[in-house]
Amino acid sequence: MLAHVSPWHARALQRIAAGPAEPLSVPARMEWTTRPGQGPGAEILGPDPRGKRLLELGCGPGHNAAHLATRHGAHVTGVDLVGLQVRRARSHYGRLNNLAFVAGHALHCLQASDEQFDAIYSVFGAVGLVAPELLLPAIAQRLKPGRTLAFSVPHPQRGGLRPTTDDRPRRDYVTLPDRSQLPIARWEFAARRWEQHLSQAGFWLTSARDFHDPGAGQWPTTLLIRARKL
Ligand SMILES: C[S@@+](CC[C@H](N)C(=O)[O-])C[C@H]1O[C@@H](n2cnc3c(N)ncnc32)[C@H](O)[C@@H]1O
Repeated sequence: MLAHVSPWHARALQRIAAGPAEPLSVPARMEWTTRPGQGPGAEILGPDPRGKRLLELGCGPGHNAAHLATRHGAHVTGVDLVGLQVRRARSHYGRLNNLAFVAGHALHCLQASDEQFDAIYSVFGAVGLVAPELLLPAIAQRLKPGRTLAFSVPHPQRGGLRPTTDDRPRRDYVTLPDRSQLPIARWEFAARRWEQHLSQAGFWLTSARDFHDPGAGQWPTTLLIRARKL
């Protein structure tokens, strides 16, 4: 039965079955990588997020959005494809000010919006899961000039993989709480290819950083990219 729904929905369903989502305290820092406490925090989104409008694409349970809204006073909208995830995020953080969670496909939300954002970001979220030649121009449309797009993706060389050499997605897997895996398509570019796509969409890549996790051997686990809208 689970094979007929989105793997992300199946994962959220198993999480909900394991127990209801409770209100949570707001995380003390923003996490971009697979290893909590590692790497930059909110500062890479711009100098002073207070009062700024931020958009997260693929917010999941909303931890980073809650951090940015509460600890930095930003106005944050978190979008997630899966309604159950949005419900979970609202159960965790729906009581907070300056924070909204919306269910929808990242691309459709961007195309349907007429808002302009001060920063757009994704943490293992929709960037890398939606065709970049469609998603990046849609992001550019909704981002103010000079402002930041930042995203982290599973590193294309994790576990000894090679980055793709063309623009097609590769098969990856979502791991469910019961350890079963369901297939998804993921765009697995090296930084150089991300740079080309970003440039075509009207961005200038300002940094690309690899992060390691000691538990994952010699290979990097996270690629964090930051770009500025021209
Ligand atoms: C690996 S989780 C990351 C969640 C969150 N950013 C975090 O770091 O905890 C990926 C999330 O992206 C969402 N997602 C996948 N495809 C999406 C799309 N096309 N539009 C919006 N959200 C999407 C999934 O539902 C899932 O909640």
